[in-house]
Amino acid sequence: MITQITTDIKQAADALRANQVIGIPTETVYGLASNALSPEAVSTIFSVKQRPTSNPLILHFACLPMAKPYMLSFHDELKVLYDHFSPGPITFLVPKTSKVPAEITSGSSLVAVRFPSHPLFLALLNLLDFPVAAPSANKYGSVSPTRAEEVLAQLNGEIPLILDGGTCHYGLESTIVGMDGDRVIVYRLGSIDLDELSSTLGYIPEVKNQAEQSPLAPGMVKYHYATRTPLHYLTNDLKFEENTGYIFIQSIPEGFASAPCMTLSSTGDLKEVARNLYHTLITMDGCGFNAIYIEKPLAEGLGLTILDRLQRATAKFN
Ligand code: TXA
Ligand code: MG
Repeated sequence: MITQITTDIKQAADALRANQVIGIPTETVYGLASNALSPEAVSTIFSVKQRPTSNPLILHFACLPMAKPYMLSFHDELKVLYDHFSPGPITFLVPKTSKVPAEITSGSSLVAVRFPSHPLFLALLNLLDFPVAAPSANKYGSVSPTRAEEVLAQLNGEIPLILDGGTCHYGLESTIVGMDGDRVIVYRLGSIDLDELSSTLGYIPEVKNQAEQSPLAPGMVKYHYATRTPLHYLTNDLKFEENTGYIFIQSIPEGFASAPCMTLSSTGDLKEVARNLYHTLITMDGCGFNAIYIEKPLAEGLGLTILDRLQRATAKFN
């Protein structure tokens, strides 16, 4: 199969109507999309991604009214977050109706729904009369792509089409929220940080994002988002080693001037760090180093999401 890259949403819509699986841009990361109501197309997502079918998929809609037939209820607290953050990088875990195929939720009575803001994806959704299922467009366990060429590098020859929407604005996956009684719970830290959620809700929501805490979000596995090259955190006493890549948040420290280094942001702005993180990891991973060392961000705001991803990415090599 030849994988074509296009900016034509009509071609993408035709492919989805024909139950094909294609790469699509979102404001968070690229997705591997199909018609959520086609069992054949959904099973292709799992096989292309090499993902266990016990790990459910997010449904994407243009707006809340389009999602209504698929949700039994939508709690008022979630509505507050919807009004504030959607369309955008937030996903809601809600009770599903029988219209949601069991294979989408891996048998769970809850379904994850999201309303993306990427203009091309939104325009595509508006051409369709079915929800679009889409996990991130990486192979299971790998780093999520934030550019069309990175989708091509991982899935060339396995999907017919990639809709090119440029570089993803946020660069980290959506924040997943659900309810525990009348309180919002965060099941995955994401592009909307805890401070933003808290100031909208008026309280700090509990985070339940560890595999052992959250049978609800089986995707929160311990090892994920990993490079092939061993990835470690930088420590203060670290000295420059041969054939090793270094990723710094903002500036390259003395002693590393001649080392292969990349920085994530020229100003240290965490939004820019987030936007560049996966791309930088993928780029460094392609260099054939023995190891990659990365500087830890501060554990606040978006730094918590970045740390969550790095924790899972480095866990495999510890
Ligand atoms: O930003 C995003 O959310 C991207 C873009 C493409 O929309 N999508 C994404 O999907 O990150 P994925 O499949 O890579 O991660 C979704 C996570 C997984 O950890 C999955 O287990 C969890 O959401 N999830 C999906 N449906 C669920 C459900 N019904 N119950 C519990 N967890 C669910
Ligand atoms: Mg993913």
